[in-house]
Amino acid sequence: MPRPAITHIHLDNLRHNYRLLKRTAKDSEIMTVVKANAYGHELFLVAPALLEEGCTSFAVTDATEGCELRSILGFYKKIEIVLLSGIFDEEDAELACQHQLTPTISELQQVHLLKQAGFNGNVWIKIDSGMNRLGAKTPKQILEACFQAEINVCGLMSHLACADEPNHQMNQKQAVAFNEMCDQISPELPRSLLNSAGIISMPEHTYHTVRPGIALYGAEPVAAQPIGLKPVMTLTGEIMQVRDIPAGVSVSYGATFTADQAMTIAVVGLGYADGVPRSLSNHGHVFIHSQKLAIVGRVCMDYTMIDVTDTDTKPGDAVEFWGENILANDVARSLDTISYTLFTGVGERVRRKAV
Ligand SMILES: Cc1ncc(COP(=O)(O)O)c(C=O)c1O
Repeated sequence: MPRPAITHIHLDNLRHNYRLLKRTAKDSEIMTVVKANAYGHELFLVAPALLEEGCTSFAVTDATEGCELRSILGFYKKIEIVLLSGIFDEEDAELACQHQLTPTISELQQVHLLKQAGFNGNVWIKIDSGMNRLGAKTPKQILEACFQAEINVCGLMSHLACADEPNHQMNQKQAVAFNEMCDQISPELPRSLLNSAGIISMPEHTYHTVRPGIALYGAEPVAAQPIGLKPVMTLTGEIMQVRDIPAGVSVSYGATFTADQAMTIAVVGLGYADGVPRSLSNHGHVFIHSQKLAIVGRVCMDYTMIDVTDTDTKPGDAVEFWGENILANDVARSLDTISYTLFTGVGERVRRKAV
């Protein structure tokens, strides 16, 4: 029997989030961001569900992820698979041809690679509007090179640095810079600027296409403006053993927790190799029997201990680390991180199960 380390993937909630984002983004096309194994939610569960909801545009990181997604979705309909990091070498260019992938282009060299491979599909051009991450420095030159190579440019995109802070001055600055560049390069080309947070905080900039990622998975991207997203992932472990301990004894590595009175400890079969952050040691909570119980001692590679004193906890009981009862955003905030790191940190050995 496999270890009962399971993350439940609530596909109804995913569908709800997709529909909600579609309504929020009004008439824009939705390019769903499913990179990094659908933010840890399992691509082969997430992508078909989005396809069934009518999504025909998906974004992944690179050609390897693009090929995997193409094998899941097939070639039927006109399904766009965008590579947000573009292509890296000749092999990627070949893969883009064979699997009808849509690279984003930030460098002239990428156009040359595609031309050499005989690529005749579509690309997006990525423009840096102020985040200073990936983006073309000479987008006009890239557009012309694409034109000469008979590569179709389906749009211009850029990415926001601070969209989760609606009043941040960077947002308007980037929007202005992006639009000025688009107007100069090619006013008629479709534009795409917004990620999840931007859809909520900058609704006047939805343009042709929006690119939600984290919101699909149910984590509210703008803390001050929740829109009713539902959590898609529930990370669940199982109680393996329950033991009573007397006052004065310690629990787990480093003996960092000592019982100040007699208590009952339960061992959960899920640890940091499964994605439980080690920084939850002596700090976090889990949800079991309709209550929140404290994590005691250090989180181990395969186990986490919790205080189950005065509860009727028994081996086999399910324990939620995050999901509908403990929001991933709240866990992340308590650790000074973001829910993205929790979702993508869930280990490969944790089985994803659609519910
Ligand atoms: C270019 C680009 N667009 C959209 C997204 C989706 O962002 P989010 O998950 O914040 O919605 C990402 C994610 O990193 C990205 O890199």
